[in-house]
Amino acid sequence: MRERNVKVKTIHLIAAARPNFVKIAPLYHILSKEKWVECCIVHTGQHYDLNMSDVFFEDLELPTVHFHLNVGSGTHAEQTARTMLAYETLCLKNRPDLTIVVGDVNATMACAIAAKKLLIPVAHIEAGLRSGDREMPEEINRIVVDAISDLFYIPSLDAEKNLLLEGVNKNKIHFVGNIMIDSYELFRLKIDKKRQCDTYGLQSKDYGVITLHRPSNVDKKEILEEIVDTLVDFSKKGVSLVFPVHPRTYTKLDQFKLFSRLQREANIQFIHPLSYIQFMSLVKDAKFILTDSGGIQEETTYLGIPCLTLRSTTERPITLTEGTNELVTIKTLPTELNKILTNQWKKGRIPTYWDGKTAVRIIENLKQFFGG
Ligand code: UD1
Repeated sequence: MRERNVKVKTIHLIAAARPNFVKIAPLYHILSKEKWVECCIVHTGQHYDLNMSDVFFEDLELPTVHFHLNVGSGTHAEQTARTMLAYETLCLKNRPDLTIVVGDVNATMACAIAAKKLLIPVAHIEAGLRSGDREMPEEINRIVVDAISDLFYIPSLDAEKNLLLEGVNKNKIHFVGNIMIDSYELFRLKIDKKRQCDTYGLQSKDYGVITLHRPSNVDKKEILEEIVDTLVDFSKKGVSLVFPVHPRTYTKLDQFKLFSRLQREANIQFIHPLSYIQFMSLVKDAKFILTDSGGIQEETTYLGIPCLTLRSTTERPITLTEGTNELVTIKTLPTELNKILTNQWKKGRIPTYWDGKTAVRIIENLKQFFGG
């Protein structure tokens, strides 16, 4: 702890799930060196397994968390309610001058509500993204957080349009770029050195990486079975695939007795969830990615790697219009994959302010917010 003086502001950085850790790291690394602020990491405990949480802290060189709320898994209401209760209790004892929430997970919404009800200002990083699909739990979280936040840090200008339509004051919206790219640039050397594909006996640009965890893809047997059938088809045609399996997906594959079909395939490698450096190394050297994640659509756009997103909507439309991402259905997937394998995929470009300097822009703005 640094010596206190009246001007030191306390900021809580809220992190709950894998993608959040990646988003808070660049901010923490700069804020922890600034004299005007004391920056505390609050881990809500939504992701708790070693390979879903601890390995990220290690890779991203984050310290032991300042506060751990141990919320764990549950239904949406259970998880949200437990997070609100735990974060309110924390704020009553250790009131921050600002709560920073990132992304769109349940804890993002829960902590924003708890803070605002205690009249603590809230800053939202990755504000304004909208898929338009209110069946996605994250869309509800985004809308609620953006209805009550005080500072809106947006990664792309489509987000500004969305926020203005919802009545947000333009002066509160700050176009700062994409914070995930800051993490990539911070750890680029380590990622470049890693050569994760060697671990699986794969050649660079000769394999695809699969990540699937959205309830809409994995929670229903008929849908997950169709996905498994397609992956088996690809494998039989000689396409090498690596599949780091999210715990939710693992449970569903097991429950629906689909595991053994995939395990029989010579060209599909099932692996545990990877750490940040391992995963980004595997992605960087891949020929393509098949995903339903949000952040991976952006990271592949930044790296110029073809990305097939198995969803009907995206809250990150810039990855379609400027980047290397395309939305696919299970029916269109084979044709789209063929375009990649025959090198007919679009090239894309890197969007404005996806340059590794987003955290610096946010912190400059925070100083102004605090009157510095
Ligand atoms: C959550 C986020 C999603 C984000 C994803 C990143 C919400 C609504 N969803 O989805 O937006 O893209 O994180 O990975 O906030 N589990 C474990 N170990 C863990 C964590 C989870 O085994 O460390 C299992 C539990 O059975 C749990 C299930 O995975 O019920 C789902 O976890 P949860 O955090 O609720 O949602 P995710 O699918 O991870």
